[in-house]
Amino acid sequence: MNSNLSAAKTAKEDEFYTQLSDIERELKHYKKHFEGKVVYLNCDDPRVSNFFHYFSYNFEKLKLKKLIATCYKNQDVDLFSQNDAEEAIYLEYEGDKSGNGVPDLEEIGIKPLKGNGDFRSAESIELLKQADIVITNPPFSLFRQYIAQLMKYEKQFLIVGNQNAISYKEIFALIKSNKLWLGNHNGDMSFKVPDYYEPRATRFWVDEDGQKWRSLGNACWFTNLDFSKRHEDLILYKTYAAEEYPTYDNYDAIEVSKVADIPADYDGVMGVPLTFLGQYNPDQFEILGLSGTDYPVTKRYGKKERVVDGKRQKSNTGTLGCVVRTDSFGPGTHFDVGYPVKGIYRRLFIRRKGATA
Ligand SMILES: C[S@@+](CC[C@H](N)C(=O)[O-])C[C@H]1O[C@@H](n2cnc3c(N)ncnc32)[C@H](O)[C@@H]1O
Repeated sequence: MNSNLSAAKTAKEDEFYTQLSDIERELKHYKKHFEGKVVYLNCDDPRVSNFFHYFSYNFEKLKLKKLIATCYKNQDVDLFSQNDAEEAIYLEYEGDKSGNGVPDLEEIGIKPLKGNGDFRSAESIELLKQADIVITNPPFSLFRQYIAQLMKYEKQFLIVGNQNAISYKEIFALIKSNKLWLGNHNGDMSFKVPDYYEPRATRFWVDEDGQKWRSLGNACWFTNLDFSKRHEDLILYKTYAAEEYPTYDNYDAIEVSKVADIPADYDGVMGVPLTFLGQYNPDQFEILGLSGTDYPVTKRYGKKERVVDGKRQKSNTGTLGCVVRTDSFGPGTHFDVGYPVKGIYRRLFIRRKGATA
């Protein structure tokens, strides 16, 4: 295998193409935002992007002012058999002039860019400045930089990402201050991937046309566009009882293991799974922090040992995150921090809005 090809094969996996059905399902929640607006798709080849398809075909219905798309020139283009563009191009679309209701790329006119079409390039930034709303599925490997640029230029946006990004320090700070939130649908999403992507044991398949696919169970939409579900209260039916909601040993908060079990009457700080963000209404709760990131621990442990079903293990215990104290080293995995505790996954700390505790 030549060295370029092997380098390409181990390269960042940025080529995930969004399906039209996923775009339609999400975009229907934001229709009110588009009238008179300039929409910019800055990681999209209009010849293949379903974002371009959606916005060009719905241009009149959404009453858009202008649609801009730029396509990145992939440096390794000669190695790739599909989808990757040979040159960086852009287009600007201002509605159906022919009157036949079908956006025609030849009629619209695809123009070459001077540089490589990187979303951070001067040419792309000039186009970004014209835009009101930026929509795309950007390269996963550049997610932090991508969001930072949108913030710098104070753009509205709706973009696809991965749930892991929630716990990036910079992204979480934006979530906490309600400058960025999750969209309507988060979870499973399938994407076409280029032919050179290696097969995988899970979440990978080839369809009857030979097209390769990958799916993610933790895809998310990230946005700062408001939508109605964000203002719907989460319906809570549980009441607080100390024996059902243990207090963490190392954080000043109670453990709520399922979003549906958030007690309706608890005014203190609660630790909840990250999936809470998919149902977060900023009028109902405030977000205070994330375990292991920006929220203060009340206790740090020195030497700790893993104890599985009463047996002490040699393995490294790593960092523990939130922990609750247990009565004994009984069945299951415990840790010995001088006394028995159990580790809990990463938790988001929240409090009821207006609570006085
Ligand atoms: C996750 S894919 C999504 C493609 C398309 N937006 C879609 O949703 O179908 C990200 C795209 O960004 C392109 N890309 C990678 N690095 C880029 C950069 N620095 N600037 C602009 N686009 C980039 C990749 O070539 C890839 O096509």
